Amino acid sequence: MTVPISIASFVAILALSASSESTTPAGTSSSTAERGEYLATIDGCHDCHTPLKMGAQGPAPDMSRMLSGHPEQMVMPPPPALPPGPWVWVGSGTNTAFAGPWGISYSPNLTPHATGLAAWSKEVFVKAIRSGRHFGTSRPILPPMPWQTMARMTDGDLEAIWAYLNTVPPIANHVPDAVPAAHQ
Ligand code: HEC
Repeated sequence: MTVPISIASFVAILALSASSESTTPAGTSSSTAERGEYLATIDGCHDCHTPLKMGAQGPAPDMSRMLSGHPEQMVMPPPPALPPGPWVWVGSGTNTAFAGPWGISYSPNLTPHATGLAAWSKEVFVKAIRSGRHFGTSRPILPPMPWQTMARMTDGDLEAIWAYLNTVPPIANHVPDAVPAAHQ
């Protein structure tokens, strides 16, 4: 026999748990760095900052190089000249080197190593993302780094990502400098 109220109570319980979840302040259920790991994962930082390598199942992130950016051993030749038409940019198989109308950009090393973000502060990190300027002050950050969407994160979210980046294994990897189009 069905008890009609049970469905209503079930829906009410669902609504209650959903609302209590959404009002839980960030960082109460897990540490700030754990929340940063979650945010970095769903916001796709690995997509471009962890090099892809070819495996049996196709390209997969090389977690032994987690978040260390474009591998320095992989010296890229000049980008190919594309014929006129709708193809306007190219990328490396690692998804860490990119060339297009903006010039050439390489995903930097985000690990807390001297060749990565070890010298950065939380303030510089937040300012870079908010302003779209390299190191928060100099040249514009080039595509395809999606700083425009990241800039809309709350301070708490950006600070959580920064906290997480400080917990990942430091990896020595000196990424080449970007070459903005004006300098090509
Ligand atoms: C679609 C590829 C892509 C994604 C996704 C991406 N990045 Fe980047 N990121 C880049 C590239 C390329 C650069 C280098 C841009 C340049 O040299 O101007 C960059 C630069 C940066 C920089 C250096 C900014 C500076 O001041 O020079 C930081 C910090 C950074 N990314 C953090 C992140 C974080 C954190 C995430 C995830 C939330 C993320 N990126 C997601 C491609 C990406």
